[in-house]
Amino acid sequence: MLFDTHAHLDDRRFDQDREVLLARLPEAGISLLMNPGCDLPSSRAACALARERDWIYAAVGSHPDAADDIGDEVLEAYRQLVRENPKVKAIGEIGLDYHYEDVPRQQQMLCFRRQLELARELELPVIVHEREAHEDALTILEDFPTVTGVFHCYSGSAEMAKQLVAKGWYIGFTGVITFKNARKLVETALAIPLERMVIETDCPYMAPEPFRGRRNDPGYVYRMAERLAELRGITPEEMAQITLENGKRLYRI
Ligand code: NI
Repeated sequence: MLFDTHAHLDDRRFDQDREVLLARLPEAGISLLMNPGCDLPSSRAACALARERDWIYAAVGSHPDAADDIGDEVLEAYRQLVRENPKVKAIGEIGLDYHYEDVPRQQQMLCFRRQLELARELELPVIVHEREAHEDALTILEDFPTVTGVFHCYSGSAEMAKQLVAKGWYIGFTGVITFKNARKLVETALAIPLERMVIETDCPYMAPEPFRGRRNDPGYVYRMAERLAELRGITPEEMAQITLENGKRLYRI
C-alpha cells in the first residue's frame, strides 16, 4: 500500500491514457494519491479527479511559475473550491523557484505570501515548491508560524530539513533519491525521523531509476520506498506503511 503524495495526473502528458492508468493504479498498490494544482485550471482539474475517485485527493494553488496570475479573483476561486470540495486537503503547490525564475522574485514572494494567508485562514496545510530560494522561503514562513505542511521534492540541506521537521514540517522525497548523485538528499534521508518522510513521484517528471527519462507515473513510487528503506535499514513494506501513515497525518485524511 503506497501513498503518492504529489502527482500531477491532470497534466496533458496523461491525456492519451489517463483512464487506463487510473484503472491500473489501485492494482499496482497505490491506495492514496494527492494531486496538487499549479494554477486555477489545473486546480479545478485536480478537484474533478478527486471527485471521481475515492483514493484521489486534491490541493489548490498557484505554482511560482504561475505566480503572475494571483489576484483577489483567483484567491476567491480557490476559497470556493475548498468550500465545495471536502477532498481538497491542502493549498499547493505554492512557493518560490529561483532556478527558472519564470516570474520575477518579488511577484513570486507576493504570491507565496497571499496563498500562505489563505492556508492560515482555511486552516489547511501547504505544499511548498522551493528551488534555490531557501533563505527567502524560510524568512517568509517565519511570518506564518501556524502554517505547516510539506516541502515537496526537497532540495535543501540536511540541517535545514532538521529545522523544518522541528517546526512540524514533512519532507517529500521524489525519484531524485534513487539517482547516483543524490548525496545531499541521502544525508537528509538519514538525518530526519522516519515519521516526517513522505514519498512522491511529481509525475509526469523525474522518473526514478531505473526508469529515468521515461514519463513518470504513480506506479513508480515504490522505488522511493525501496531506496529510503535501504538507507534506513527497514523493509520496503515497512517504509511504504510508514510513509502512507505520514501522508495521511500530513493531509489530515
Ligand atoms: Ni509538482
